[in-house]
Amino acid sequence: MRHLLDTTDLTLEEIDDMIALATDIIENKQKYAHVCDGKKLATLFFEPSTRTRLSFEAAMYELGGNVLGFSSADSTSASKGETVEDTVRMVSNYADIIAMRHPLEGAPRVATTRTLVPIINAGDGGHAHPTQTLTDLLTIYREKGKLGDITIGLCGDLKFGRTVHSLIKAMCRYKNVKFVLIAPKELQVPDYIISDVLIPSGAEYVQVESLEDVMPTLDVLYMTRIQRERFFSEEEYLKHKDAYILDLKKLDNAKKDLTIMHPLPRVNEISTDVDDDPRAKYFEQALNGKYIRMALIMTLLKWGGNLEY
Ligand code: CP
Repeated sequence: MRHLLDTTDLTLEEIDDMIALATDIIENKQKYAHVCDGKKLATLFFEPSTRTRLSFEAAMYELGGNVLGFSSADSTSASKGETVEDTVRMVSNYADIIAMRHPLEGAPRVATTRTLVPIINAGDGGHAHPTQTLTDLLTIYREKGKLGDITIGLCGDLKFGRTVHSLIKAMCRYKNVKFVLIAPKELQVPDYIISDVLIPSGAEYVQVESLEDVMPTLDVLYMTRIQRERFFSEEEYLKHKDAYILDLKKLDNAKKDLTIMHPLPRVNEISTDVDDDPRAKYFEQALNGKYIRMALIMTLLKWGGNLEY
C-alpha cells in the first residue's frame, strides 16, 4: 500500500504515467465510468476547501464509486478531542481510500501510521499540497506539451503558499526549469526551499519584487493568494494583501503564449478582466484537478491491490 504525502513520494515516471492516465480519462470518459464501482472514498476535511474536496468527490463519482466524509471538523468527534490517529484508524474501516486536509503540517503523515487504506494529503498547513501540484503539472503539460525547458514565475505569498512549495519541489526535477520567485522580501520562499530543494537540484532561480520587470521572460505565471489565515497578525496581512494584482495592462509585454495559472481561490490577485484573455488557464486548471484526482485514486487503489484496470 502506498500513500501520497508529497509529490516527492512519486518518481518522475510515475508522475508521467498519472498524467498519461488523466489525459486518457479526458479523451475517453466513458471507459472509466465504472472502474471504481463499489469503492468508497472518504474525504476528511478538517480545514475549509471548495475545489479540492469537490473535485475529489466528483472524481470518485465519475469513476462509479461513492463518497463519505465531512467538510468541517466542528461536526465531528475531533471537536470532542478525538485524535487524528483514532479518527483515521476508524474511518479506514469504512472506506477504501482517504483524502485528508488538516491545518497541522504533518497530520497526514501521522494518519499513515494507523490507517488500513491509502492516505492522500489534500493539504497540510503551510507544508504541502501534492494533488494541487499534480493538477498544476497536468495543466502545464497540456498547455506547453512539456514540463522541462520552461521559465515559471511564482508570484505572491511564497512563504505560506503550500501549493508553491510543492510545485517547486516537483518542477525542479525536470530539465532546464528556471524559477522566477516574485514576492515582497517578507513573503519570499522559506529558506529550506532554497537550501534543501533549489540549490541541490541545480535549477536556476532568481528572487525579485517586481512582476512587471520579469513579465516578458515568463512562459508560465503562477499567481497565488496572500494566505490571510497563516499570518500571525491582521496588521501584517493588511500590509501585504494587495501586493500584486494582475490586470490586462500588466500583460501588455507578456509572451503571447504565456500560461496564467492560479490554484484558486483568488481574492484580489487577478483582475476579472483577465478571465477572458486566452492566456488565462486557471479555470481549466481547476477542471484538470478532477481528472488528475481520478487518475490518482485509480493508481493508489491499484498499487494497494484493491483495483484492477
Ligand atoms: N486550490 C485549492 O486547494 O482550493 P480549495 O482550498 O478550494 O480546495
